[in-house]
Amino acid sequence: MCGIVGYTGSRQVAGILLEGLKRLEYRGYDSAGVAVENEGSLHVVRRKGRVAELESAVKQSEVVGTCGIGHTRWATHGRPSEANAHPHASNDGRIAVVHNGIIENFAELRDDLASRGYAFGSDTDTETVAHLVEDAYEGDLLAAVRTATEQVVGSYGLAVTCADEPGVIVATRKDSPLIVGKAEDGCYVASDAIAMIDATRDVVVLEDGWFVRMDGDAIEFFDGALNPIEPTVTHITWDMDVAEKGGYPDFMLKEIHEQPRVIRDTLAGRLVNGRLEIDELGMSPEELDLIDRVYVIACGTSYHAGLVAKELIEGWARIPTEVEAASEFRYRNPIITPTTLVVAVSQSGETADTLAAIRDARVKGARVFGITNVLGSPVARESDGVIYTKANKEIAVASTKSFLGQIVSLTLLALLLAQAKGKLKMNQIRLLFRELADTAEQVEWILAHADEVNEAARACAEARSALFVGRGMGAAIAREGALKLKEISYLHAEAYPAGEMKHGPIALIDEGFPVIVVATKSPVYDKTVSNMQESKARGATIIAIATEGDEDIKAHADHVIYIPKVRDAFSAITASVPLQLLARTIAVMRGCDVDQPRNLAKSVTVE
Ligand code: F6R
Repeated sequence: MCGIVGYTGSRQVAGILLEGLKRLEYRGYDSAGVAVENEGSLHVVRRKGRVAELESAVKQSEVVGTCGIGHTRWATHGRPSEANAHPHASNDGRIAVVHNGIIENFAELRDDLASRGYAFGSDTDTETVAHLVEDAYEGDLLAAVRTATEQVVGSYGLAVTCADEPGVIVATRKDSPLIVGKAEDGCYVASDAIAMIDATRDVVVLEDGWFVRMDGDAIEFFDGALNPIEPTVTHITWDMDVAEKGGYPDFMLKEIHEQPRVIRDTLAGRLVNGRLEIDELGMSPEELDLIDRVYVIACGTSYHAGLVAKELIEGWARIPTEVEAASEFRYRNPIITPTTLVVAVSQSGETADTLAAIRDARVKGARVFGITNVLGSPVARESDGVIYTKANKEIAVASTKSFLGQIVSLTLLALLLAQAKGKLKMNQIRLLFRELADTAEQVEWILAHADEVNEAARACAEARSALFVGRGMGAAIAREGALKLKEISYLHAEAYPAGEMKHGPIALIDEGFPVIVVATKSPVYDKTVSNMQESKARGATIIAIATEGDEDIKAHADHVIYIPKVRDAFSAITASVPLQLLARTIAVMRGCDVDQPRNLAKSVTVE
């Protein structure tokens, strides 16, 4: 939530900041701004709306300079407006601040600063930091930022520049990501390496409480007491083409089409001499065998991957598994013992609720595994072991390829637990692994045979509401289908276990009401078909996701989208794909921006 970028070096900074902000726009896009230092003064330009609005304004006002900071915002305190856009400047106009996070004690700070004569021009929590830095400034920006942050309670990634220290940027973080990199042409700071990857692939992921001071030539690193430190450098391996649409009309469609590759990459190297190995988890088979309870904690789409995991872990490893929204788990008093495994699933690896839940679980003595897409992210660093989903950078705000990567990773984890507990024989595990690997090809088939999706989408595009139903694995995937549709098309959608329809939701159904049914061949197929008939009898327009070759289903559905026959355990992988395509097609038909839906941001770093 909110993207920060900063550069100081030999090149003109405005273009670098704007390009960086475009790449960070997935983190928030209600307003944007830059502050550029030039010959001892700061030039601040801010605009409400997308980075494109800011770009025109920056071009018009001919911003010149080689050191600057920029920000793209997702509003927390104060509605989207130019006044609330970052950077925020101090009253003397000499200091500018960009911030990602929440200053929880901003009201007290604001009252105190106001009583001492500081004037506020925005409703944001961030502006207090600009005034605190001004208040503490005595000719040393690094020291002033440290003094300011000592007074702050909350989370922050901060980059600060000062007209009195030309070419200098100071940055620090707590519970919000910040990456720095030194390139040939200068030094970069950003919320995500994607903003600097053209210039350098060798980056440092800052730790909480660290400070950096950078000028055009070097980056210095300091701990919380401002003692110099030597950080570890991380090399970014993913390719820059993740930031390009590659001929697709939007990132979401491109990312949906990348899913076969994600499945293959996530599985690569996992079966060694016929045994499943996930060394990064750092637990021996004997230790894994002791696990007697699993909690999967996550939010949103990642939570839905958890629902799939429950079916698999309970089904194969026979370990009781609960799936909980991290925002609930962190405020409950769950039963945790030393043999409890907590699996935290997070694409971004920085979701505030998931991180808080991880910390809480570890304090209570659980072993925590993270499943994340982002190398070195807080979820990766704060977990005892981690599986990376190999989706590569996901740009569209709505998760697709990372969701499939999560399901595949969780499937591996379920198999690993079953292997450790001896609940599946080795030849069964090898067979399941082969079938899991085959889903890559099956997803390719689905993507090549998706024509019926357009017809089905037309039947929903004008609707006001839609129901997604299924049973077992299908119920979990129905929930993800409904979330995908509502978040990008703004069409109300609800998901229900198909068998629960007659206990209430069936009352919604009238002529033409869209009901999307996950009706693949499974042990509960016949029951699901009965539920379809009940909806059909009440006038629903039925869209069925069905198994290739199932001709009978046509009698009960208006539209059938076929997917290849797979074992029920893997149907979540294949059935998700047409639901992603359906949501996207409906959103496009409704004229929505599928990559950047309103009110959302890709990284939810606030509670
Ligand atoms: C929906 C979506 C969100 C995220 C949720 C958790 O398409 O992407 O529901 O799944 O905000 O985010 P992560 O996985 O980054 O913790």
